[in-house]
Amino acid sequence: MTAQIIDGKAIAAAIRAEIAQEVARMKEVHGVVPGLATVLVGDRKDSQTYVRMKKKACAEVGITSFGYDLPADASQERVIQLVRELNANPEVDGILVQLPLPGHIDEEAVLSEIDITKDVDGFHPVNIGRLAMKGRKPLFVPCTPRGIIELLDRTGIEIEGKRAVVLGRSNIVGLPVSMLLLHRNATLTICHSRTRNLPEVTRQADILVAAIGRAEFVRGDWIKPGAAVIDVGVNAVDDPTRKKGYRLVGDVKFDEAREVAGYITPVPGGVGPMTIAMLLKNTLDARKRRLGELR
Ligand code: GUN
Repeated sequence: MTAQIIDGKAIAAAIRAEIAQEVARMKEVHGVVPGLATVLVGDRKDSQTYVRMKKKACAEVGITSFGYDLPADASQERVIQLVRELNANPEVDGILVQLPLPGHIDEEAVLSEIDITKDVDGFHPVNIGRLAMKGRKPLFVPCTPRGIIELLDRTGIEIEGKRAVVLGRSNIVGLPVSMLLLHRNATLTICHSRTRNLPEVTRQADILVAAIGRAEFVRGDWIKPGAAVIDVGVNAVDDPTRKKGYRLVGDVKFDEAREVAGYITPVPGGVGPMTIAMLLKNTLDARKRRLGELR
């Protein structure tokens, strides 16, 4: 079997077009557009790239973005002070603090300061806490996990009753996507670095989400024939044939996996574009909620 490629780039483009239309309507009806503030602390190249892509995506759908760059040695108090200013700024609907923060800053202390109605990353302890419980509604769901569910839904892959295996237990992807899969009535297994006989576990997955950050770690024979494979990894590997000297690969060995899986997301062009599309959607939702158009 050769897997159907889940074209995250195309699906994200369709979602961005829907958002652009809604932003235009909001501007016409209410005379306002949503605003996103990005906070970048330090000079990590990957974080700079992600924030740049997020601001560009905002511009393309008509969302205003406000960029705040602080030096790597900025104090925790300085970052918290900025978050408080953004909480009070009526032009700002969403606040995104790019992670990871430098080591001397307590991530939870900063994320706890974000007004939960502006927490478009969904990382505030109250939003994450609600996501982790049955019958509670977070105001926002973290972007990559929300994007993964959207990819499955828009591809017509049923979740209810399926066996889902999540590789990785990070706060940003592994844990929240697990909660979402559980809320959608999947039978869930979470694997991590201490899991024994990993291939044996992954081979049971109807839906396999790989989010461990290890290049091409998941091999073809770890996959159940016909499974849906969602590859969240973005890993740079040396490649002298490329102008940049490297190329990006996922956590799954794509060429092997595509011969076994029923569906697979490519890297790049799978989950990545969905993360940004969901950030835009969350920012739009934040302003809609302020306008009383969303509960
Ligand atoms: N770092 C890696 N992914 C993310 C994300 O989705 N949001 C933020 N704020 N930081 C990240």
